[in-house]
Amino acid sequence: MSSQLLVVVLVIVIFVVKFAYTGLTCPTRHLPGPWYTRFTHYRLKRAVVTGQRIFYIDSLHKQYGPIVRLAPTEVGVADLNAFKEIHKIGTKYMKSDWYLRLANFPKPGVFTMLDPREHGPRRKLLSRSFSRTYLVENWESVVREKALLALTNIKADAMKGTADVYNWWMLLASDVSAHLAFGESFGMLEMGHANQFIRVLKKLTMGAGIMVEMPFLRLLRFVPVTSVQEMFNANDFILKGAGRAVEMARSRTGEANIFAKVIEDCEKEGDGHIDDMDVRIEAMNVIIAGTDTTGVTLTYLTWAVLQRPDLQAALEAETAGLDDGFKENDLINLPLLNAVIEETLRLYGAAPSSLPRVVPKGGTNFGGHYIPQGVTVDTQAYTFHRDPEIWIDPLTQVFNPQRWIASDKGVAEALSPAAKTAVSNIDL
Ligand code: HEM
Repeated sequence: MSSQLLVVVLVIVIFVVKFAYTGLTCPTRHLPGPWYTRFTHYRLKRAVVTGQRIFYIDSLHKQYGPIVRLAPTEVGVADLNAFKEIHKIGTKYMKSDWYLRLANFPKPGVFTMLDPREHGPRRKLLSRSFSRTYLVENWESVVREKALLALTNIKADAMKGTADVYNWWMLLASDVSAHLAFGESFGMLEMGHANQFIRVLKKLTMGAGIMVEMPFLRLLRFVPVTSVQEMFNANDFILKGAGRAVEMARSRTGEANIFAKVIEDCEKEGDGHIDDMDVRIEAMNVIIAGTDTTGVTLTYLTWAVLQRPDLQAALEAETAGLDDGFKENDLINLPLLNAVIEETLRLYGAAPSSLPRVVPKGGTNFGGHYIPQGVTVDTQAYTFHRDPEIWIDPLTQVFNPQRWIASDKGVAEALSPAAKTAVSNIDL
């Protein structure tokens, strides 16, 4: 046998032995699921890189039930009581290291802190600036002004023929979140396009999402092509740009800035700690978290309503009753508007995929299945939001805002009684 052939045979033998060993010893081998998921995570990975992950996992739940093996150390969970246990306040289920691998910055931020002892204080520190009272008091007029500008632009484009609703909603969401994070307007709705900082930040986030699945693509950072550099090697540019958020927050000369408040709270209360790099990273997190989510949701909402002339007319009639100077408080009392928002979030929510968490010491028992410690459990909104066991209307796939106002008892009636008990006290 030639030496090359020997190497090939050896490699094949090593692979076969590794696969067999994984399949025989994997901690999820007793759980329901396709046989090959005992041996490899490549089928799941294929679903991820082809953009099919939520549909693949949903189809496995339909076939195998609420607890299904996705890979040797990864399990899909579509059971509401289990969801509550995993995501409740003070949970012992830590974020998986997927979040760490996603982190592209010099320090972890609120998204990528795995240890609850680190994550808890940071979240507490940021949450005051996101309280409803603080936001309404300090930011309502800014949001209102930008929303009006977005609508004026959509109307002007529509009068000319076609309005790119997605573009304007994305600019609205980027402008609001950038203003919150930096304390000054980026003026993108006025320009009609994103500025360089936002454009590169979005590319960098996309690059991070790609690299977390295919780490070898990190090598692309050495390719001297601007568009590739922006996606895989723009950290320095972005961190430098985010220095402006620190400047504005520390000087406190500009308009309201959520980080000026965070720093003030930190100094006043004496708990938590936030340095300049933390402010840069959290400012970018706010923009990343607030832009695509809100822009995409608003686009789906517009699309869902415009397809239903009756619904559009009813919504117009409801909002026609508002005074010109209406406030956020007045909108809370509009049942149809709120039902349309809830139903859009249910069917087209912008975060439908897994929120991976790790089973703590001692393992757990979900739906009669023991899951050992260290296994990653994935809960995905896409499946929960379409589960006929959870929603009172069996046509769960249909966009039906009425489900949220079907009873005079309020929106909670959209959920089945069992689901209502299970979802109480969930902390996302
Ligand atoms: C329709 C809009 C939105 C949706 C569907 C959404 C969804 C979510 C989900 C599912 C998580 C949990 C992520 C995980 O555990 O992996 C999350 C976390 C977070 N979101 Fe949003 N979000 C939206 C808008 C926003 C906005 C506008 C902001 C800020 C301006 C924001 C800031 C955050 C932050 C800071 C976290 C991390 C919280 C933590 O780890 O403690 N989100 N969001």
